[in-house]
Amino acid sequence: MIVREAKKADAKIIHRIHERSLPSPWSLDSIRDWLSEPSWLWLVAVQDERIIGFLSSRFLGDTVELLNIAVLEEARRFGAGQALIDALVARVAQEPEVEQIILEVRYGNEAARALYVKSGFRLVRAQPGYYPDTGEAMWQMALECGHSA
Ligand SMILES: CC(C)(COP(=O)(O)OP(=O)(O)OC[C@H]1O[C@@H](n2cnc3c(N)ncnc32)[C@H](O)[C@@H]1OP(=O)(O)O)[C@@H](O)C(=O)NCCC(=O)NCCS
Repeated sequence: MIVREAKKADAKIIHRIHERSLPSPWSLDSIRDWLSEPSWLWLVAVQDERIIGFLSSRFLGDTVELLNIAVLEEARRFGAGQALIDALVARVAQEPEVEQIILEVRYGNEAARALYVKSGFRLVRAQPGYYPDTGEAMWQMALECGHSA
């Protein structure tokens, strides 16, 4: 498996994975637009020439926001999610101004929370009842990048 930056031509498969994996899918047009945004970094995990997962993030000065990560259901638990996060962290390490990567996750999303904890993210703030559809808490998590040391 390899991880590479996404191209505009990957929009359809990213959209399909998004639709199948995440509660509020983005439209194909939005994904196409955001793939061209210079401040965004999209990564895809590719297995046997097939995209099996993606990650989207946004660079906001000293902070990078990890917006979404998803892996096709049939391809989970084989390291693709971890490889996507590792590739983002490696990329951020090349940007000295970036101090932290932040994200939001539903408390009930045990797979994602476990992935983030394993990757070194720590809980910053928990907001009970944040998601109106389920009443779940939102966890805001952060990974310090340590450039300032
Ligand atoms: C979260 C997600 C991206 C993980 O992708 P993945 O490719 O299956 O993850 P990996 O195989 O790289 O797993 C890495 C680590 O994450 C944790 N993890 C992943 N899936 C898990 C699960 N179902 N239960 C518990 N821990 C899990 C484990 O710590 C795992 O390490 P291990 O295999 O050594 O135990 C995937 O489950 C997914 O697409 N979920 C739906 C979309 C989603 O919820 N995205 C997050 C939005 S905030």
